[in-house]
Amino acid sequence: MSKPLLLLTRHFPPAVEARAARDYATIPNAADTPMTGPEIVAAARQAEPAGILCAAGDALNAETIAALPESVRIIATFSAGTDHIDLGAAAARGIPVANTPDVLSVATAEIAMLLILSAARRGGEAERMVRARQWTGWAPTQLMGVTLEGKVLGILGMGRIGQALARMARGFGMEIHYRNRRPLPEAEAQGATYHDSDESFLGAIDVLSMHIPGGAATRHWLDARRIALLRPGAIVVNTGRGSTVDDSALCAALESGHLRAAGLDVFDGEPRIFEGYHSAPNVVLLPHLGSATVETRDAMGFRALDNVDAVLLRGEAPPYPATT
Ligand code: DGY
Repeated sequence: MSKPLLLLTRHFPPAVEARAARDYATIPNAADTPMTGPEIVAAARQAEPAGILCAAGDALNAETIAALPESVRIIATFSAGTDHIDLGAAAARGIPVANTPDVLSVATAEIAMLLILSAARRGGEAERMVRARQWTGWAPTQLMGVTLEGKVLGILGMGRIGQALARMARGFGMEIHYRNRRPLPEAEAQGATYHDSDESFLGAIDVLSMHIPGGAATRHWLDARRIALLRPGAIVVNTGRGSTVDDSALCAALESGHLRAAGLDVFDGEPRIFEGYHSAPNVVLLPHLGSATVETRDAMGFRALDNVDAVLLRGEAPPYPATT
């Protein structure tokens, strides 16, 4: 029996591509850049694949999904986030969408911790200074940051990534507060303080770490009004989705000094980056590295293929269906 056709929109880790090639006739994207809607439609119409293995950045919007050939029986994304896929349009076509939750929680929390440390201790500025050969030697007042011990970390979105970050931050002596759809018994048991309003949450914290999904409901969640609720000198870190931050408002608060620093791993419309960040010394910028470890990217790929296998090899529902 011939292998089912699987369209790969990106280059995936070698172990993932090897497993995909074992069970499927894979159709690669030679370019390894996010595919536009028309590119996905053209490739899918030409090959008529049974499944699409895609990633964040691919434009699986309503128009694209509506134009996919009848052959497509699963869209599996190599990501936890699904904001690049119109889930309603896929449901309307009866195409299951599945993602890769959980396996990237620790890796992403590590990047959040890296950004918190870099922002608090001015790691980005310091590295740029040394690299530019501008360091003239140790000085008592040079590049002074703030100590994390005893500070309050506010976690927005206490899912698995938020909980992993809470564990790490406790090791640095930080107190944990969180804002979530509902209080979590496991977080409370570990001494984390739940807030049921943005006002009490933002006013109680020294560092805000954002872990909410992208999409219309969360667009510009961190706007000028909420930034004003943060304590003077607060730090903002985002490893969720760039669309959740109003970049102009964040830049203005960094420039005015209301906020001490920010650390960003995700950007609205990435890889384009809001111009103001380029010239802001107190922002640490990373290129969407949250899940970028060898172990995690393999695990994401295997989980994505578990989803594909369930549908295409066994005729079952995917084990990790995307939820809205
Ligand atoms: C995810 O899995 O959503 C990460 O942001 C990588 O896209």
